[in-house]
Formats: sequence, structure tokens, C-alpha cells
Amino acid sequence: AGPLKIRTVAASFPLLPGRESPFLLYQTEQAGKAYQNPILRIESGARFTASLDNALAEPTIIHWHGLHTPAAMDGHPASTIGPGGRYEYDFKVSNRGGTYWYHTHAHELTAEQAYHGLASFFLVDDDDQRRLAKALDLQLGVTDLPLVIQDKQFDAQGKLLYKPSAHEAMMGWLGDIVLANLTPNAVQAVTPRTYRLRLLNGSNARIYRLAFVKGSTPLDFTVIGTDGGLIERPETVTEAFLAPGERLDVLFDAGQAQPGEDIFLRSLAFDAMENEGPAGGSGGMGGMGGMGMGRMMASMSSSRLPLGAEFNVLKLSVKAGDRVVAKLPATLSQIKPIRTEGAAQRKIELSMGQMRFLINGRTYHMDEIAFDVKRGAVEIWNISNPTMGMPHPMHIHGFSFQVLERIGSPPQVAATARFGQGRTVSDLGWKDTVLVWPGETVRVAIDFAHDFPGDQTYVFHCHNLEHEDGGMMINFRVK
Ligand code: C2O
Ligand code: CU
Repeated sequence: AGPLKIRTVAASFPLLPGRESPFLLYQTEQAGKAYQNPILRIESGARFTASLDNALAEPTIIHWHGLHTPAAMDGHPASTIGPGGRYEYDFKVSNRGGTYWYHTHAHELTAEQAYHGLASFFLVDDDDQRRLAKALDLQLGVTDLPLVIQDKQFDAQGKLLYKPSAHEAMMGWLGDIVLANLTPNAVQAVTPRTYRLRLLNGSNARIYRLAFVKGSTPLDFTVIGTDGGLIERPETVTEAFLAPGERLDVLFDAGQAQPGEDIFLRSLAFDAMENEGPAGGSGGMGGMGGMGMGRMMASMSSSRLPLGAEFNVLKLSVKAGDRVVAKLPATLSQIKPIRTEGAAQRKIELSMGQMRFLINGRTYHMDEIAFDVKRGAVEIWNISNPTMGMPHPMHIHGFSFQVLERIGSPPQVAATARFGQGRTVSDLGWKDTVLVWPGETVRVAIDFAHDFPGDQTYVFHCHNLEHEDGGMMINFRVK
């Protein structure tokens, strides 16, 4: 039906009672009706064509997060278009079925623009997805619910507040109002059956430790997918970390509560592990004695909800209905392990410089290539994060990877690492973003095979969006 026309627009809506909140949104039209931040849905293997018209007073560009596209279609910061500009996208969606997303990647404006709303879902269908939907009688928008979790600050008028201090620009901007699909105090009515929740962390900097709780009891939920589609088998857990950029596809049986009861999707308390260390940029703290730096940093944020605080994300309000007990399929899909014999090992060292975080000692320069990778090569990236610093969700463009191993995990991560080689449930399947905690080395295998003509330059960066804009990003070129 011709290319999808997407326009970036400024629009307000009443998100808080009695107040209008201005946002930046993607708008499309279908049959004369306007849709804002539409969920795009496409079949694996199909061709995707779209035009982006920038109706904003600032530059922008769209990145299709998780998709394997030629570099020119990827929304590299160098592709950023000015006000009134247009960018045409045309590529084959070769990824497997799964929960991907699209968001702004405007050069040095990603954080502020994504925060103001420029982000939504890009769902890919395939046979595995259809088989699952059929087996569990899932219906998108009814019992299969895409849910983007974001935290924001608002001023008294209801306007989004985004004013990172130098320190907040360094650590990441946190909100104190948590939104599920742009809704504060979100409530979803459910009946005693199984729901699929496609959880996306669309926050700038906040990490969530997600659990479903009734009272204070964590209930079981079943992870069926991660960033790049379904995992091999359903895995039942009671909690999982979800870092900015990551997705977690879960099944939840609302029949674990009685009609009239409430269940909360909650972010549990955790140790944020923010630690600038003695060499950090904040002078004059020598006399703080035994006060944990983590707490110190939290108290310096303008958010009243520090990283690692506990809060609710979504209320599931259980209504009367037929009890449906789903029989989970024993296998969901097949994941072929990347063959790593003879693979080149690459060191990726995260570090902290002058008030900013670095990758292999570098800060981002648009026309600097950090390294070349051979087309078709399999590489193992050993991403290491020093003990001093903070957790970083590292994201690669253009390719998906498999997490091989997590080494040196802090106790709160090691406690849930029951999937071999120190891996947690979030590490299974195909990934494009992986959280690397202080003191950890995460080893990932990447297959750089592609059939795009010529050299392709992509970015690899931290998905803490303040870090990304602050230069925690490199270009790599696939030759
Ligand atoms: Cu979702 Cu380069 O990012
Ligand atoms: Cu980071």
C-alpha cells in the first residue's frame, strides 16, 4: 500500500489529571485517521518501506532497534535530518519474529527526544509467534500486551521536565513518575487466565528489577522471549532485571489471584551500584566517611525516586471470569548457537574519564571508526565494566548476539544466574542489548554476516541515553 508515512509532531495530551503534557510523537495516518506512536507490525521476511517527515523544529532520525538493516537504513546519527527534512527507509525485515522497537537517534539529541516521546514498538511476526499465539489463545492488544515502561518528571503545569545537571548528565536522567504505555498508575483488568506482556524498557537511564507481587509475595512468571524473539523453552522465574533498550516477553497467569484481588507488576529494590570512586569528578566528598557512594549519588539526583528504589509499574486488577489454565508448549523455538571455534576475541573496556563514560578509552566522534570487523566473521566481544562506575546496558546496531558468559557478577545478579555460565534469564536467546554491571565481564558472540553491498558502519553504545549522547558510543565498520 505504498510506503508508510511517518511524521514527527508536537502534541499535547492530558496525562496527569487536569493538565496538558506536551510530547513529541510519531504520527501516521490510515483511512483518514491519525495514529500517534503507532505499534508497527510486520511479517518476518517482508519489505518495509517508510518515509520520515520531520515536522519538528529540531533535527531527528529513526533507528529500528534490533533490526538487521543496511547501515544507511539504520538511523545512524550521521543520517540525522534537519527540520522539514525527509528520510526514506526501504529494507527487508530479516529478523525473526519478536518485540523490536523504533526510536529517535538524533545526533546528541537522542535522550531528550526519546524522553519526550519519540519511541514505540516494531513487532515482527513469524511461524513461531503464530504457533505460540494459537497454543495460548493470545490476541494482540487483548491478552498479548506490549508495555513500554518509562520514568519521567513533570513540572507543576504538567510539562515534561528535562534539565540534567552536569552530574545527572553523567549518571543518567531519572524520573519520579513511572509510566506504563505513557500512563501513570496504570491499571489493567484481567481475568484468571494467561497473559503475554511484551515488556520494553524505554527509559533513559532507569533499570527495573521486575516482579509480579500479590501483597508482598512474588508470583511466578514465565519468560518466553528476550530482545530478538522467542527463547528455546519457557523459563519460570520470580524476577528479572530489565535495562534501558532491553525487552522481556513474559507469560503471566492472572489466575494466581482471586477475583477482586490486585497483583502489581513492581520494580523491586536493588543496589544501584553507582559508585564514582575516589578518582571521580565530584570533589569535596572526602569527608563523607562510611556513607555509601551509591546513596550519595542518589541524593544528588533531582528525582525523588532514586535508582534501585521500589515502586509499582502496573496494577493488574483481577476480575471474575472463566479459569483458563494454559498448557505451555515445551519448546518455543530453535536457537542455533553461533559457532565460536576460531572466533576472534575483542576487548571492549568500559571506563570513566573526565565526567564521562568511555568505550576503549574513546568518546564518540562521528567520523572516527574505532575498529573494523570482517564481513562474515564471528567475534567474541569481552565487555568489561570496572568496579568503580555504574551498570551500563550496551547495545549494538545492525546485528544480534548471543550471551556466552557472565563473569564476576555482583551478588544480586549472581543470585538469579541459573542458566549456565553465570547467565540470567535476560541473557537467553538473541540479544541486542546487554546489561553489564560494575565488576563484570560479559562475553557475547556476534556473527557479522550480511549481504548488504559495500562497507557498513554502525554504532555500538550504552543505552543509558545520557551516556549515549555524552559520547559513550563508537563506530565500527563491517568491511
Ligand atoms: Cu535503541 Cu542506538 O539504540
Ligand atoms: Cu552507560
